[in-house]
Amino acid sequence: MSQDLFKPKILGFLCNWCCYTAADSAGVARYQYPPNIRVIRVMCSGRIDPVFILEAFSCGADGVFVGGCHLGECHYQTGNYEALVVAALTRKLLEKAGLSTERFLLEWASAAEGPRFVEIITNFTNKIKELGPLGKTEKKDKDELRLKILAAKSAAKQMKLRTRFGNLAKELRKEGDYSDKIIHDKLGQKVAGVINTEIARHETFLRIQKDGPVSFNDLEKKIGASLSEIEKYVSTFSKKGLITESDGQLSVTSNEQQVTSNQ
Ligand code: FES
Repeated sequence: MSQDLFKPKILGFLCNWCCYTAADSAGVARYQYPPNIRVIRVMCSGRIDPVFILEAFSCGADGVFVGGCHLGECHYQTGNYEALVVAALTRKLLEKAGLSTERFLLEWASAAEGPRFVEIITNFTNKIKELGPLGKTEKKDKDELRLKILAAKSAAKQMKLRTRFGNLAKELRKEGDYSDKIIHDKLGQKVAGVINTEIARHETFLRIQKDGPVSFNDLEKKIGASLSEIEKYVSTFSKKGLITESDGQLSVTSNEQQVTSNQ
C-alpha cells in the first residue's frame, strides 16, 4: 500500500485539563489537522497504563499518542512525571514485542496551545504514515506480531512485574530525578529481566495454544528463549494441568485457558 493510500489508525489518550482542551480549541479555531486520531479523554496522563497501549495495538492501532500537561503543570502535581516512567516501561515492552517504539508518542500541550497540538498530531500522523501499517516496518506478519503483543500485554498485567515497577516508581518519586538516563538505567537494572522472562513465559503458552501440537525445538526457534527456560515454563504449565505432552508434542488442554498471575 502506498503512503498516500494508507490511512493510519491512531488512538489518543488526552488529559482532560490540557491536551483535550487544546484539541477542542484547535477545532473551534478551525485549524486543520489529519483526521486519523480517535480520542479517549483521561483525567491525567498519569492514569495511563502500559496495558492500555498494548491493548490498542492488539486491536489494530497503527500508532498511540498520550498527551498531557507540561511538566510542572499537572493538576495532580506529579501525574505527568509518573507518565514519563510508564512511557519508558511501555517502550521496553513494545521493543521486546518487536514493535517500532516510534509508534508510541508521549507529548505535552497546554489548554491554550491549540496550534502546538495540531503540530504534534500532524507530525505524528506523518511519522506513522512513513512507518506504514502495523507490521510493515517491523517486517512481521500481522498474526505473528499480534501474538507477541498479546504476550507483552499479559506480561504487563503480572503482579511480579507490576510490583517491581511500582517500587521503581516510588524510588524515582523519592529521589525526584526523572531524567531519561536515570529512568532508562533503573528500568534496565530492576525491571528488564522480569519483562523478558514474563513475555517469554506468556509467549510459550500462547504459541502452544495457537500452533499446537508443537515441539520444544519449534518453540525455541520462534520464541528466542533458551530450551531450558522453555522447558521450565512448560513444566509449570503442565503441573497446573494447562498443557499436555505426547510424543514430544505440546498442546493446551483447553483453548479457554489463560495464563494468570499465579500460574
Ligand atoms: Fe494533565 Fe496530569 S492533569 S497531565
